[in-house]
Amino acid sequence: MSTDHVTTLAQITDVHLPPVLSLKPWIWNLKRSVGMVNWYRNRRDLHLASVAAMIAADCKAQHPDHIAVTGDLATLGMPGEFKTGLDWLATLGDLSRVSLIPGNHDIYTTGCDLVCLREWAQYMRSDEWGSQFLRGAEGFPYVRRVAGIGIAALNSAVPTRLFRASGRIGPRQMTALRDVLDRLKAEGLIRVVLLHHPPLKSQAPSRRALEDAREFEALLKQHGADLVLHGHNHRDSLAWTGAPGGQRIPIVGLATGSTGREHRYEPLGRYNLYRISGKPGDARIEIITRGLASAAGNVVELRRQVLSPDATLAASGNVMTLP
Ligand SMILES: [Fe+2]
Ligand SMILES: [Fe+2]
Repeated sequence: MSTDHVTTLAQITDVHLPPVLSLKPWIWNLKRSVGMVNWYRNRRDLHLASVAAMIAADCKAQHPDHIAVTGDLATLGMPGEFKTGLDWLATLGDLSRVSLIPGNHDIYTTGCDLVCLREWAQYMRSDEWGSQFLRGAEGFPYVRRVAGIGIAALNSAVPTRLFRASGRIGPRQMTALRDVLDRLKAEGLIRVVLLHHPPLKSQAPSRRALEDAREFEALLKQHGADLVLHGHNHRDSLAWTGAPGGQRIPIVGLATGSTGREHRYEPLGRYNLYRISGKPGDARIEIITRGLASAAGNVVELRRQVLSPDATLAASGNVMTLP
């Protein structure tokens, strides 16, 4: 693969499609009941299915080589939400071009994990190349190849108790990821890691943080990666961590793809296109952010910027840049 070849990867996250309520009493527990009240009081007019549809349509129209959906497609993890999630995913185009990982609102409470992983399985597994690469190993991380890019997709979502939205990668995925990152580099592929939760210790309070963030950052420092993408914080962010040989790994957080009005630090709905070229350890990455410039507007380009460890993320709505 020529280092001049540009591969375009899109990212959409945290669209929080409306809950599909169920009358089955065994579906309900305290966490879901409180979550439902919170949705109707605070979020029903914030995350709009109409905005999620506009973002999906614009993303598809940009013809990216691949689309990463980094979790929180659902809201209360209700069985019906996995069906509406599939309907929305189908609007992105051919399912082989879409990689999905779960968020804490998909695996919201006990029992959600099995339903989520079953219902969305076709979007959360290795492609043919990845299956051979993993020698048939299943689960997370799954691996996909898109031109000169190798995507390693993690599941950081675990069922949590009331008022917690934390995540965990766990030792099994960590061990597998070490091997995947080393071998993707040996294949000459630019390595993109997907996870829902922000991966650095400083990026979220403990009740909504990645519990094994320190272990994950140590893994990145030792084995390297070229780009880490996450959601969960509902804001744009750019952080950096070290990599072998003194290189720096960009960690990009993206705001939601469904927000129909600005709310505190949450900007209007948007998504990112990453134009990636170069080689492992020396990738050139340009981020193009497209989204709503006004609540009643269409999806337009909001920002275009080449990533550099010296640069901060240019302003576009509310942006948090981390050291
Ligand atoms: Fe979210
Ligand atoms: Fe989340």
